[in-house]
Amino acid sequence: MDTLPIVRTVADLRAQVAAWRRAGLTVALVPTMGALHAGHMALVERACTLADKVVASVFVNPTQFAPHEDFERYPRDEAGDAAKLLAAGCHLLYAPSVAEMYAEGRCTTVAVGGPAEGLCGTFRPQMFGGVALVVTKLFLQALPDVAVFGEKDYQQLQVIRRFTRDLDIPVRVDGAPTVREADGLAMSSRNAYLGADERARAPALYAALTEAAAALSGGAAAGPVLEAAKARIAAAGFGSIDYVELRDADTLAPVGRVERPARLLAAAWMGKARLIDNVPVVTA
Ligand code: PAF
Repeated sequence: MDTLPIVRTVADLRAQVAAWRRAGLTVALVPTMGALHAGHMALVERACTLADKVVASVFVNPTQFAPHEDFERYPRDEAGDAAKLLAAGCHLLYAPSVAEMYAEGRCTTVAVGGPAEGLCGTFRPQMFGGVALVVTKLFLQALPDVAVFGEKDYQQLQVIRRFTRDLDIPVRVDGAPTVREADGLAMSSRNAYLGADERARAPALYAALTEAAAALSGGAAAGPVLEAAKARIAAAGFGSIDYVELRDADTLAPVGRVERPARLLAAAWMGKARLIDNVPVVTA
């Protein structure tokens, strides 16, 4: 097989998954918005170890973008994505249109509290409602055994875990470690927005988080450590810093000092790119 099969409708997706099920095969889903990079490939490769067949979805989801955000200019390259998915071992690409995903007159939402509150939920208030809606739909459309998401979007991962549990959706949610460039920058489709000078400065976000995580795991109080991390990020040339926060690793409730597994999360602007990153913080 030298081209990846592509389906564009829920009916065709379900027909393929049903055929696999009849053959006794298990199915993994890797939801994406395309513009695929090595981080996505790691998700697909991981999915291949978790199930017999792997479906990747590519859908730039309009409901998770605010009108002023980058929905229109979000990078799109279906042919390139399909070639990369095939090379990574994916078996099927699901690439629905906006009309296929969202029926006219749609009036149902999926609202998540808890882990969706604060952090990116404050700065992109529409985002997690849109993510919850589209991921719920993708789960119900594909009904996979397992779905794989990156820890790069850690808050998103915890939101998906929460509503999947709350709604009794019979899909196992698997989180995969962040894939980084050699200099530490977390891989992201939005890194394509960085100019050469911005790209050279961007790894400072991860460096600041790593340094802060070491201090926090030694028992330091969060306040001064987070302020020092913000100063380091600003000194590296980031414009506005949306947040640098310490949260409980499971619930994402704010944490003042690390006593159980925590997560340090940040979002900051480098030029036109809003970069997010996070690192684990464990007690020393
Ligand atoms: O992480 C992403 O690419 C998207 O938010 C997702 C999970 C595919 C939903 O549109």
